[in-house]
Amino acid sequence: MAKDKKTCSEVLDEWKEFIWNPRTREFLGRTGTSWGLILLFYLVFYIFLAGMFALTMYVMLQTLDEYKPTYQDRLAMPGMMIRPKGEALEIVYSMEDTESWDMYVQALDKFLTPYNDSIQVMTNFECPQDRYFVQEDSGEVRNNPKRSCQFNRTMLEECSGLTDRYYGYHDGKPCVLIKLNRVIGLLPGKNGHAPFISCAAKKEDTEKMGDLMYYPRNGTLNLMYYPYYGKKAQVNYSQPLVAVKFLNITVNEDVNVECKINADVIEPTGNERDKFAGRVSFKLRVNSAKIESNN
Ligand SMILES: *[C@@H]1O[C@H](CO)[C@@H](O)[C@H](O)[C@H]1NC(C)=O
Ligand SMILES: *[C@@H]1O[C@H](CO)[C@@H](O)[C@H](O)[C@H]1NC(C)=O
Ligand SMILES: *[C@@H]1O[C@H](CO)[C@@H](O)[C@H](O)[C@H]1NC(C)=O
Ligand SMILES: *[C@@H]1O[C@H](CO)[C@@H](O)[C@H](O)[C@H]1NC(C)=O
Ligand SMILES: *[C@@H]1O[C@H](CO)[C@@H](O)[C@H](O)[C@H]1NC(C)=O
Repeated sequence: MAKDKKTCSEVLDEWKEFIWNPRTREFLGRTGTSWGLILLFYLVFYIFLAGMFALTMYVMLQTLDEYKPTYQDRLAMPGMMIRPKGEALEIVYSMEDTESWDMYVQALDKFLTPYNDSIQVMTNFECPQDRYFVQEDSGEVRNNPKRSCQFNRTMLEECSGLTDRYYGYHDGKPCVLIKLNRVIGLLPGKNGHAPFISCAAKKEDTEKMGDLMYYPRNGTLNLMYYPYYGKKAQVNYSQPLVAVKFLNITVNEDVNVECKINADVIEPTGNERDKFAGRVSFKLRVNSAKIESNN
């Protein structure tokens, strides 16, 4: 009966010989030269890979323009945002309770600080009004940094926080600022008509909204603030703003307001993705212990 099973010490000896075979001078079944060649192969292989990576990276970076994004969403209209803005898009406060609106006033103060006339004069340029402020590069010569146009805080008049430092929150005539998100290269007017912002209440709230006042007049975004060339090219850019003052809002009622930009470039949007482009909705509620309306 042949004995198939090896003894324990035989197995151990075989393993020892596999790890280091003194007769053939092999380590793990390969000679030193063989191991050397393998290591050399992998070394060359990885150096080659690293070289390839560096080369592709270099070529890619060469084609990037640090002043312009290579890819940008092609939205017909940018999104809009309001200030002050809490967690949700709602402004709810009680007229008589200073603490309930103090945060809104502070947020507006903070937001408008860079728009102080003195700061605008120092950092920005007085552009010709009512036309695009185009500053193209000429061929390879970069026209950077590019200048930006002044948007003075005083242009917001009653909503500038200068004539009325509570922005109307204390007497139930609150101001809400509206801004357009920045889109590089956007030319929002057509045929020389500047875009303007208008607000309206949701159907059932129409009666409750009351009259509005826009600053600058007509809610216009002057063409001179466009096109925008990007944060890096236009370091001091101040986004144009439109302030809306609610002159006679019904107190103790929710009023749902939608503001939108009216520009000729708006394309008819059947597109789900564009549904919120060029408009912003928010809830406004002014509470008051006084029951009669505040006019
Ligand atoms: C901006 O103007 C307001 C009102 O005049 C003032 O209180 C504030 O200190 C100014 N901020 C800066 C940074 O100049
Ligand atoms: C901004 O205010 C400054 C100082 O009051 C004034 O010189 C400048 O013309 C104003 N700019 C605009 C665009 O109204
Ligand atoms: C930006 O503002 C700084 C002052 O803060 C000014 O020195 C600089 O010239 C401005 N840049 C441009 C391009 O207007
Ligand atoms: C506001 O719009 C009306 C009519 O559209 C126009 O007659 C008026 O000149 C505009 N006002 C300003 C300051 O742009
Ligand atoms: C303010 O609105 C109320 C109704 O909500 C209305 O009766 C009143 O005439 C309005 N006042 C002004 C000045 O428009």
